[in-house]
Amino acid sequence: MCGIIGYIGKKQAMPILMDGLRKESYRGYDSSGIVVFDAQNNATCLKAVGKLENLENKIQGQELKGEIGIGHVRWATHGEVTETNAHPHTGCQENIFVVHNGIIENYREIREKLIEKGHKFVSETDTEVVAHLVEHFFDGNLEDAVRKALKLVKGAYALAVVAKEDPNKIVVAKLSSPLIIGIGKDEYLVASDQNAIAPYAKKIITLEDNEVVTITPDDLCIIKEREPEDLEIETGKTEKGKYPHFMLKEIMEQADSIEMPLKGRVRFDQGLAKLGGLDQVSDKLKDIERINIVACGTAYLAGLTAEYMLEEYAGIPCEVDFGSEFRYRKPILNKKTVVLAISQSGETADTLAGIKEAKEKGVMTLGIVNAVGSTIARETDAGIYNHAGPEIGVASTKAFTSQLTVLALLALFLGRQRQMSLITGQNIARELLNIPALIRELLKSEAKIKELAEKYKNYKNFFFIGRKYNFPIACEGALKLKEISYIHAEGYSGGEMKHGPIALIDESFPTIALCPSDSVYEKMVSNIEEIKARKGPVIAIATEGNEKIKELVDDVIYIPKTLEMLTPILSVIPLQLFAYYTGVLNKCDVDKPRNLAKSVTVE
Ligand code: G6P
Repeated sequence: MCGIIGYIGKKQAMPILMDGLRKESYRGYDSSGIVVFDAQNNATCLKAVGKLENLENKIQGQELKGEIGIGHVRWATHGEVTETNAHPHTGCQENIFVVHNGIIENYREIREKLIEKGHKFVSETDTEVVAHLVEHFFDGNLEDAVRKALKLVKGAYALAVVAKEDPNKIVVAKLSSPLIIGIGKDEYLVASDQNAIAPYAKKIITLEDNEVVTITPDDLCIIKEREPEDLEIETGKTEKGKYPHFMLKEIMEQADSIEMPLKGRVRFDQGLAKLGGLDQVSDKLKDIERINIVACGTAYLAGLTAEYMLEEYAGIPCEVDFGSEFRYRKPILNKKTVVLAISQSGETADTLAGIKEAKEKGVMTLGIVNAVGSTIARETDAGIYNHAGPEIGVASTKAFTSQLTVLALLALFLGRQRQMSLITGQNIARELLNIPALIRELLKSEAKIKELAEKYKNYKNFFFIGRKYNFPIACEGALKLKEISYIHAEGYSGGEMKHGPIALIDESFPTIALCPSDSVYEKMVSNIEEIKARKGPVIAIATEGNEKIKELVDDVIYIPKTLEMLTPILSVIPLQLFAYYTGVLNKCDVDKPRNLAKSVTVE
């Protein structure tokens, strides 16, 4: 989703801005732009739709010299993907330039008032009103004008603003959307995430809500005195290496990305999970009576799987909500409730809103987050990092399996605080430690899954079904397939098929059925029978050694045997590979699927 970058210092701004935009491009974007001010304060603003290369091509052959500038990658919310709608936006006099991440909710109202005052708008965006509003209040002092403008604005924003007539400064402001200032040697950077500025800054200041800060080449007039923190970026390679796509690389490295969160956290002898991030709240957790999980997308499906884990093994009632629904349904929270956010990026606006809601009600908040130092990691009372390494592919894969792993650790931790026996604890610990080896084994079926993708790639619809622990995995399989290959897919509980969806089944509508040898295996077999009776093709995901299933279904992918609770960590992997190869064979941009963003920072 939108990414902001800014530079002010003694170096040429343009290459640094472009480098930052490249690093922010993994978030998902559809157009981009930069503005650079030269020594005489002439502004050159260039924008392009599509890939960043299009902007790079425009820059070539232009004299884009200057030591101050701002840039943006846009993920369209208000207005189509056009050059005019791309940022930076400017006012009528082309004095003020603004880049923005977030949504100005009352933009129509402000726009109408400004039009009455003679302002002329050129784009369909909400952001353009900020440029005009700042212009309206501008009398030589940019910071004052930004402050006045923001008093009228409702919604969420991270902003960087520059003005020709108040040169040598960038004014930045934030409410709800993330923004950081990087501190280099005689230079400052502004960015939406830490990775974008890593080569230039070792210290950062994370802007707080409602702060407005003026940055000049030699000063950072931060309103509240705050010590800069160390820049913390996730370690791990952000190159594709031998793989054609990040998605495949991230699928194939899951044995390692699962080993990381397990490292040092599993105590087999004591049948315990040692979770350092929960130390300070450990005693309070002994008394909690309910867990409300808040998450979005794939992380939400990890949450749904955790509901089964936490209720079965920790005996704690658990509810799972989309971040976007949680606070609007007026959840009943009390002092014995914990609100747990699950988020790879740690920046998802809806999930963050859930955490804020819980904090307002005085409820303890926890986070399971991959991106170190991200907003959700900072806003929650305590938490557990995934340490899965950077995930670049827009569709989440290794972050998901690492979320499931951490959630299993949490179930073990909370379970052992309660009724769980040492033997059960040891059993979970042993099986968890064994999972990376099982994944290495399972990944050997890559070629077989590719063959299946070849066989099924032209079908227009798919069902994914599963029960109990594998019901959320069916939903995740369907989500992966639709986002990567644009094929219509639905995830259902196997038992629920006969209450409606089965009406769609015929020979042209295949089903992928998750039927490992677990406590609901027989029930799943009945559900598969119902589909076969209606001539629906079925691919089964079954446990190694189950030869009988071959008689019933069209194709089988085998997964190794593990504890029922941990099966999802294995069963999702063939579904990720199936989505990947179906997408590739259908010539889709699997790392950056159309319309999607990696980091969804607007509500
Ligand atoms: C976007 C991504 C998904 C991700 C979801 C939640 O939709 O494309 O892959 O699952 O956001 O993101 P989070 O960073 O909070 O896990």
